[in-house]
Amino acid sequence: MMYELLKPVLFQLDPEQVHELVMKALRASSMSKTMLELIGQICKPKDERLKVKLWNLEFPNAIGLAAGFDKNALALPVWEALGFGFAEIGSVTALGQSGNPKPRLFRLPEDKAIINRMGFNNDGASVVAARLELWRHSHGTLKIPLGINLGKSKVTPLEDAPQDYLSSLNKLWEHGHYFVLNVSSPNTPNLRELQDREKLEVLLETVMGFANTQENKKPVLLKVAPDLSFAQLDEILLLLEKHKLSGIIATNTTLAREGLKTQIDEAGGLSGAPLKQKSFEVLKHLNTQLNGKLPIISVGGISSGDDVQQRLDAGASLVQIYSGWIFEGPLMLKYMARELLKNRA
Ligand SMILES: Cc1cc2nc3c(=O)[nH]c(=O)nc-3n(C[C@H](O)[C@H](O)[C@H](O)COP(=O)(O)O)c2cc1C
Repeated sequence: MMYELLKPVLFQLDPEQVHELVMKALRASSMSKTMLELIGQICKPKDERLKVKLWNLEFPNAIGLAAGFDKNALALPVWEALGFGFAEIGSVTALGQSGNPKPRLFRLPEDKAIINRMGFNNDGASVVAARLELWRHSHGTLKIPLGINLGKSKVTPLEDAPQDYLSSLNKLWEHGHYFVLNVSSPNTPNLRELQDREKLEVLLETVMGFANTQENKKPVLLKVAPDLSFAQLDEILLLLEKHKLSGIIATNTTLAREGLKTQIDEAGGLSGAPLKQKSFEVLKHLNTQLNGKLPIISVGGISSGDDVQQRLDAGASLVQIYSGWIFEGPLMLKYMARELLKNRA
């Protein structure tokens, strides 16, 4: 109700400025035990039936914050208070970078969608690792699993990408519960070529060479684009199995613009409601091909408890949300949990 009143005001302002404002408020809340408790009382669903166990990790519910919202781990503890069952920070790159020139974030309220071409603006792996260490000192271990999503630094040539990801992984390994290789952002030139068989093979070999030799074993996943053909996805699945990755995240934003009501001509990745069907089709295909062999995290256009249930029924182990949360507001997780539980009497 409050958010419905606030939204028209927020939506008058520049989207990136609003994002920064919201992140500041969430960071401030994260520093205050009283605020965290209050937010938890209002927003967090609490029901044992929502719990999910995966990779030896316990998730209070199956709904996570997708990568890109808290790229720099600025507001970690608040995600649990807001009701997310897990949170994914990043994309983090080996070197800090400022991203693409502004404006680079566009709201499409009529379509419940977002176009972004942020370009991995982030503080870099060393700074983020230091911040995660600080969180650990000040707040102890997080109450929900933390994913760390890795991207490639813009200045690193594509052929050196494996070393770039490796450098980030090395710095961040002790801080995350699972890791994601993001090779599917449309906003770093040529990044998506890392989804091609030969380049992906080298990347996976390098990264898994590191992951497999760590004493502390952790899941490594790949995040894919929704614009790949099923044949391309199948080729990727073979590599994931060969290199023993722990799962796949589907999907990132799309370059497609079909079905938009908004007249807009901006480059970047489209997310939110217009991505829903495409991301669902990818999930169904992956589930048929994998037949339970590898967990799938489904993301793209999810905005209700029924959407979540549909993805879980179609084989997803977990789901993630970004755009839906912007349009539905901070009580979204509570409403979603209510809808999910309605079907699990
Ligand atoms: C502004 C914005 C920034 C994003 N940044 C990242 C990112 O850094 N890394 C990544 O893997 N995905 C990123 N994403 C993609 C989301 O994680 C998600 O895959 C996509 O938005 C689809 O989910 P949604 O429809 O719920 O938004 C970003 C999305 C948005 C809207």
